[in-house]
Amino acid sequence: MYSGFGLLKQQNQQVNVPKHIAIIMDGNGRWAKKRLLPRFIGHQKGLNAVKRVVTHCAEIGVESLTLFAFSTENWRRPPEEVNKLMGLFLKALQREVSKLDDNNVKLQIIGDRSAFNDEIQTHIELAEAQTADNDGLVLNIAANYGGRWDMVEAVKRWQLANPDLDVSHLDESALSKYVCLAEQAEPDLLIRTGGEERISNFLIWQMAYAEFYFTDTLWPDFNEKSIDDAVHSFNQRERRFGQTGDQVKSC
Ligand code: IPE
Ligand code: IPE
Ligand code: MG
Repeated sequence: MYSGFGLLKQQNQQVNVPKHIAIIMDGNGRWAKKRLLPRFIGHQKGLNAVKRVVTHCAEIGVESLTLFAFSTENWRRPPEEVNKLMGLFLKALQREVSKLDDNNVKLQIIGDRSAFNDEIQTHIELAEAQTADNDGLVLNIAANYGGRWDMVEAVKRWQLANPDLDVSHLDESALSKYVCLAEQAEPDLLIRTGGEERISNFLIWQMAYAEFYFTDTLWPDFNEKSIDDAVHSFNQRERRFGQTGDQVKSC
């Protein structure tokens, strides 16, 4: 629980902080276009927003933060933009991990990393190893991630672990152990910036019961107050998980 800042403070409220926040960081290109700048500048500014949001989420007690950085479909972008994004990813892995480590953040990359070049793959491994023992915020970066890929991989992993079983033994609880982030709480709150209201193949299994929060704010403009606003909205929701409102209120 935190009683904090901004809106929340004005209302003197106790706040239920989501254990796990997932964010589709969208709008970098439009942020740049509005300023007649190349799209890449929007991605660079987006990295600053990532730093603000990671720090703030750690401060307010979020346990897991999952950021969608590059989807399995983003390879369809012009090669020049893809190359710039790969360069930025590598630079972030080289320059930002020590700060994350100092702040007790555990970094994990989810997605099919085999598509990245060797240098990126090596830095992913180094970054994960360097922060593996940290017990603060778990920061999951989804890179070359797709929810459909995740589910297919989960089935394959289940089969590998259970070579003697046929698929009739596969059920929800068995499969849920093999999807990405299985060991973390499921996302409670999904935030998407940039005004679009879609999932774009993000965590389709894990977000079955997440609360969705859409904002027109473009990702490079997203800041601490934006997180507080989303958490505030989350606190207005009644999560029913299939039950009736009366049932939920009585427990
Ligand atoms: C999100 O911003 C970043 C990535 C998908 C890598 P976009 O690049 O999608 O920005 P818009 O949607 O074109 O404004
Ligand atoms: C989703 O954004 C992926 C990331 C934020 C990394 P996109 O901008 O790629 O999504 P669409 O194409 O508009 O659905
Ligand atoms: Mg976009």
